Parts: sequence; structure tokens; C-alpha cells
Amino acid sequence: MKNTVTIIDNRTNKEYEFDIVDATRGPSVVDISTFYTQTGMFTYDNGYTSTASCKSDITFIDGTKGELRYRGIEISELAQKHSYLDVCYLLLNSKLPSEEELNDFDLELRHRAFLHEGLRHLFQAFPAGAHPMATLSAATAALSTFYYDHLNINNENDYQEMARRIIAKIPTIAAFAFRHSIGAPFIHPDIDRSFSENFLYMLRAYPGGKMHRNIKGENVIREIEIKALDTIFTLHADHEQNASTTTVRSVASTGAHPYVAISAGISALWGRAHGGANESVIAQLEMIGSVENVDSFIARVKDPNDSFRLMGFGHRVYKNFDPRAKILKELQDQLKKELVLDSHLMDIAHKIEEIALNDEYFIKRNLYPNIDFYSGVILTALKIPKSMFTPVFVIGRTVGWITQWIEFKKDKTMKIARPRQLYLGK
Ligand code: CMC
Repeated sequence: MKNTVTIIDNRTNKEYEFDIVDATRGPSVVDISTFYTQTGMFTYDNGYTSTASCKSDITFIDGTKGELRYRGIEISELAQKHSYLDVCYLLLNSKLPSEEELNDFDLELRHRAFLHEGLRHLFQAFPAGAHPMATLSAATAALSTFYYDHLNINNENDYQEMARRIIAKIPTIAAFAFRHSIGAPFIHPDIDRSFSENFLYMLRAYPGGKMHRNIKGENVIREIEIKALDTIFTLHADHEQNASTTTVRSVASTGAHPYVAISAGISALWGRAHGGANESVIAQLEMIGSVENVDSFIARVKDPNDSFRLMGFGHRVYKNFDPRAKILKELQDQLKKELVLDSHLMDIAHKIEEIALNDEYFIKRNLYPNIDFYSGVILTALKIPKSMFTPVFVIGRTVGWITQWIEFKKDKTMKIARPRQLYLGK
């Protein structure tokens, strides 16, 4: 017998029945696709708090338990035992790579990291001081002009090639966007460097690929820095149907080019409520300025007449803890021994965390530190400028967006995203 939900219209006592579809993990859904045809009414769900927009087998979150899995594997296991490229391969292929598969994948990404010379010239058109997120979104859309003939691709191999290309090029575009914003010459990727190392290299190197050496004569890109950045990319790789992923899927649903869909995702991510929070957290800590000012700042956050929010706190799905934040907090503690972490900012952050975790306002609303609360201090220790925090999120998330795009394209039952409205006008 089918499981169903019955809805009664209390005005008429008429009953409507809808199927329940079970998930392999997490809550079942009620299939309301015939709701309008049956009842003549729409459903209303501001911010999609109760709406599943698609079927997916990529990423699973249990917000109550604080659980996050990519293709069934827990995030803590992936962060501890695997590289970011392992994770990219896993998301794209539903399995972890063998050594040989990983080598091929890595080599291909290194080769594809270079940008078309035409695209390089595009950066000159943007004003000096442009925020790297704006340039990154625009340059990613422009990438579709170089691969326009791929618009009508229709098979798995082409999808995968599209994916590998964008994953490889996004760090280069992001690094160029930054260097343009400060008027520094572009540094091309170095084929001999790994994915995460290359990004630090493109941000830090001098023309001709020369690198600073520290007082001991060691190369300044340290293994511990590469590993930390790699972990940050892993933690950001996918997060089911968040605002930017939903944007990518909506654009995909119209049949537009995948790279403009990713560009739209980048724009959606930029906002402070989403990926832009990582930049805002550090800006907020700097604004607070000292541990003594934390109390008055928390009072502002709690004031119902003040719209001020604590950046890096709260999450739509995690109502207990964000497992990514837990991993980053541990990473912060490990890095403390090896890198120079800004102890002044960390003291302010600790004080905020201590108050918030024990305060009725935050407890009642299930507001806990999220990934962005901890990532900023680590990124600062990696000498990544504040304006590049959200681009770092973009680099990590690109694999998630393109994997979700592929899933959308392969699911022939998916329709154009076209919500309805509750009309209250004249
Ligand atoms: N500081 C203070 N109060 C908050 C915060 C916060 N950061 N977040 C939520 N609240 C309060 C909010 O005022 C509301 O209170 P009340 O019930 O009295 O009106 C209640 O908590 C519920 O808030 P909401 O806006 O309905 O919750 P939401 O699930 O729609 O929003 C959120 C989730 C992440 C947008 C929100 O918590 C927020 O703005 N956080 C700060 C920005 C941030 O850190 N974003 C990064 C999210 S993690 C990275 C990512 O995946 O994007």
C-alpha cells in the first residue's frame, strides 16, 4: 500500500491525497506536484524552508545531528584522509579514485589551469580596485564565449570535460582577479605545483615565478599551508541545495551554458548571508576592535530594534553544530603551533563564541558558529587577503556546482524552475 498524506480543505471538507516518497537518508517528502491541478491552490513556502526542489544523490546533511556526507562518506573522514582532488573526483564520479585515476585527474587539471590569452585581456577592462568576486563572476561568464560550441553537449564525457575545465581554471581566474584589483602583474599557473599549492603561488609569486624565501632560505609556501588550504577547499566542496547551488540549477533548467550557470552561482554566493559571510566575519572582528567591546556588540545583536547580525553564526540547516566548523576549529588549534595566527582577532572571536554559546538569545534560536566563523582566521594566517576569502569559497564550491549541474542535465524528469506567487497587488 502507498503511503500518503491527506489534506482537508476546512472550507469545503474536501479531501486531497498526496504520495509520500521516502528518502534513503533524512526526511521523506510529500509529492505535491499535482497540488495545483487537484486543489486549484498553490503552496506558499517563503525561503523554501520546507521544500525539496530536486532529487539528488550527491550530498546529504542531517542538520540535527550535525552530519555532512559527500556521496555517502562523512566529511570528517574526507578531511582527515583525503585530498581535495580526491573529493572532486568522488563528487564527479561517485567513487574515490585509484592512485592511477588520481594521477591522471591531477595532471589534466594542471594542464587545463591556463587561461586563453583573450580572456586574460578581459581583466584590463575592469576598474582598479574592483572586488575580486565581481571580476570572478564576470570572467567566469566570459569563459562561456570561449567554449560556446559546447552549449548543446549531450553526453556524459562532454559534461565531465566541462567540469574538469572549470574546476582547473577557476583558481587562475580568482588569482588574476585579485592581482588585477591591486595592480600586480599576473602570475600564470606552474605545472609543477599541486592544485592548492598553485593557488597560493599565483597569489604570492613575483614576475618570472620567483618566490620569497624566509630567513632560513626555505620556500615560503609551506606544506602545512597547502594542507590547510586543501582542507578548506574540501569542507566547501558541496552543500546540497543552498542558495548558490539552487541558482546554478535554476539557470541550468533554462538550458543556458554551464559556465554562465556557475557565474550566477558565484554572484549568489557573494552575499553576506551566504559565502560573503567569511569576509564579513573578519571585518566585524576588526570593527569590534577589542575584547572589552564584545558585550556591547552582543547587546546590539540581541536588540530587536537593531537588524545587526553576528556574522559566522546561524545556519538554515544546522541546528546543533556545523561539522565543517568543528573541523576548522581543530585545524585552527593545530595551526597555532606552526603559523602566526592573529591572536588579537582570535581573542575577540573566542569571547564572542563563549558568550554566544551560553546566552539564552542564541540557545533559543539554535545559533552556533558556522564554517565562516573559523575560516577567516585561518585564511589570514595563510596570508590570503580578506577580499579573497569568498573567492576561496568559490574555488572549493565549483566542483559542487558543476556536479549538481551534471545531475540536473542527466535527470530527464527535471523541468524549468518556475515557481508561482501569492499575488497581493491591484
Ligand atoms: N545573528 C543574530 N541573530 C541571528 C543570526 C545571527 N547571525 N542568524 C539568525 N538570527 C536570528 C534571527 O534574527 C531570527 O530571530 P527572530 O526569530 O527573533 O526573528 C532567528 O535567528 C532566525 O533567523 P532566520 O534569518 O529566520 O534564519 P535563516 O535560517 O533564514 O538564516 C542565515 C540563516 C545563515 C542566513 C542566518 O543565520 C544569518 O544571517 N547568519 C549570518 C550570516 C552567516 O554567517 N552566513 C553563513 C552561513 S554558512 C555558509 C554557507 O553555507 O553559506
